Amino acid sequence: MKSNQVFWITGLSGAGKTSVAMEAVEQLKDSGHDFVLLDGDVVRNGLCKDLGFSIEDRQENIRRVAEVSKLFIQNGQSCICTFISPTNAIRNMAAEIIGVDFFNEVYINTPLAICETRDPKGLYKKVRKGEIPNFTGISSVYEIPENPDLILDCYNHFLSKSVKELMEFITLKIQ
Ligand code: ADX
Repeated sequence: MKSNQVFWITGLSGAGKTSVAMEAVEQLKDSGHDFVLLDGDVVRNGLCKDLGFSIEDRQENIRRVAEVSKLFIQNGQSCICTFISPTNAIRNMAAEIIGVDFFNEVYINTPLAICETRDPKGLYKKVRKGEIPNFTGISSVYEIPENPDLILDCYNHFLSKSVKELMEFITLKIQ
């Protein structure tokens, strides 16, 4: 049995990764499953404060988070990780560190134009003014996952539908 799992949510900034994950963690808690949420903005305020957004720094960011996730699952704790994690190589590294049997790749496929319209943190506006270099999807690469375990559409319908799909997937995996 492999009940402790990592659900790795990848997608552009503003795609809806954190919103879906936070709601799922709440619902999981309500149904008696405690999950740890590791989120890019939070991790980058502490554990990875020293890192920027070059590909090398993003790789190091994900390496650290993958190592932390591995410690969590080794100690009986499942995790949801929400990181842009922009390349196949970076995500494959995370899967290898965590262990492929414990790694579930979830892709949120919100297109760049929609993320930019939403612009929840005002970052895209700054990018267009030239104030933020190496921005994912604009001046830094985002590679669409080749073979994700789950694809969530977080732009054609309400968030609750994506949360439901994620919950169903997680529930199956942790049984
Ligand atoms: S990752 O590429 O290393 O996986 P991570 O998910 O930790 O990125 O952090 C992404 C968050 O950092 C974004 O949601 C956004 O709020 C912020 N951010 C700041 N600068 C950038 C940038 N140049 N590219 C992407 N996100 C950025």
